[in-house]
Amino acid sequence: MADVAVIGLGYVGLTTLAGLASLGHSVTGVDLNSDRVAALDSGKVPIFEDGLEQSLAELSGQGLISFTTDYRQISPRAQYFFICVPTPQGASGNADLSYIESAIASVSENAPEGSILIIKSTVPVGTCSALAPSANEKGLEIASNPEFLAEGTALTDFMQPSRIVVGASSVGVANSVMALYEGIEAPRLVCSLTSAETIKHASNSLLSVKLSFVNELAALSEKTGADITEVLFGMSLDPRIGAKFMKPGPGWGGSCFPKDTSELAFTSRQLGSPMLTVEAAIQSNQNSIAGVANAVRKQLGGQLSGKRVAVWGLAFKANTDDTRQSPALAVIDSLLSEGATVVAYDPLATVEERTNLEIAISALEACNGADGLIVLTEWPEFALEDPVAISEVMSSSASVYDARRILNASSWSKSFSNFKTLGQM
Ligand code: NAD
Ligand code: UGA
Repeated sequence: MADVAVIGLGYVGLTTLAGLASLGHSVTGVDLNSDRVAALDSGKVPIFEDGLEQSLAELSGQGLISFTTDYRQISPRAQYFFICVPTPQGASGNADLSYIESAIASVSENAPEGSILIIKSTVPVGTCSALAPSANEKGLEIASNPEFLAEGTALTDFMQPSRIVVGASSVGVANSVMALYEGIEAPRLVCSLTSAETIKHASNSLLSVKLSFVNELAALSEKTGADITEVLFGMSLDPRIGAKFMKPGPGWGGSCFPKDTSELAFTSRQLGSPMLTVEAAIQSNQNSIAGVANAVRKQLGGQLSGKRVAVWGLAFKANTDDTRQSPALAVIDSLLSEGATVVAYDPLATVEERTNLEIAISALEACNGADGLIVLTEWPEFALEDPVAISEVMSSSASVYDARRILNASSWSKSFSNFKTLGQM
């Protein structure tokens, strides 16, 4: 078992720390955010991720994990440094690598010769090869080990991954990183640094393209009268298409798809080989988000000014507290900009204050006196709400727009004559 350091304790870093420790490694987590480290030291987990709090408590009890803000506190025996810091979208659409550069500089000062810096953050294609020469001069190696976990299922995804990809410039380095995952059953791929980075970006982009296609098809079905549920089911029976990532919604969001598609679009254009499908998916996604506001405006008589609109859901998807690039927030901002008052409820997620945005403490409370209701996050509990009770607290001619297609249309239509599901005529 190895001594390992994980740099950056967010969704990916904390999951990596918990996963590696549960495989028996001794892991030090480093984060510059002292509040975050203090919370973790006192047993509190600063993000919501199913099973994480319990897992960290158990691992802490076994003495396998520790947290610090100080790189010098990393065990001198540690030779594996997982870099899990943010790579947000920069001003031009490409990734901002300043967190990566800063983390690597700090690790380089403290890592013993022969250490491997394992880049788990999603970085632009070519980043690791560019970082390697100066790391090599200090006696350090660079490996790329992209992470494919999804929020809400992060721990399970880490322990039962679809694949483990390690890119390195030598087989010895790649095998050494791969060995850390002993105990996990999954297809393993050792490849070049650039291939590993490309696999990560291309996977996120292809999934985004698929979702944009599905959302456009739902919009088309609203015009043609085709039943989008039947259409998608019929398509999914072809195993080459499959049933996953086939749910239409208000647009794809989250901390990664928007920034990673933007990065791949930017880099591919810079290199003179533009990925037009990815650019189109980004544009299409903006149309999907705008389409929700348009549909609700239409339902509410053509203008939103002075209307009170209830919103169910703030998170970018269910089972997470993450609102980064959430389509729900984009729709809310659009409604607010047109003069609506929005009353939102989410079981977990919170947002910064906005003028004319109220936060309710229950799904029912959000609907009090509202002219319209929109479902923007697919929390299962929303599907259990009673349409009769909801209609009683809303205005008499209230509308409902289900942008996540989770409400039972036949029972909701009985209580709301102005009920609409995304994808239906
Ligand atoms: P996050 O914002 O949740 O957490 C990042 C953490 O890094 C923060 O706690 C921050 O304080 C810390 N940090 C920043 N600079 C630091 C430094 N120099 N030293 C130490 N700590 C530092 O980020 P995340 O969602 O975990 O994403 C991290 C990376 O993983 C990104 O590149 C992202 O694209 C990629 N990724 C994310 C997911 C996901 O589902 N969130 C999945 C796969 C890959
Ligand atoms: C996504 C990928 O699924 C992970 O493999 C990847 O590691 C991660 O990005 C990353 O690089 O950060 P995540 O952002 O957690 O994971 O969320 P997804 O479950 O992929 O959903 C992304 C968006 O697509 C959400 O807004 C979700 O609501 C939407 N979506 C997803 C749909 O609208 N329909 C679907 O059928 C699936």
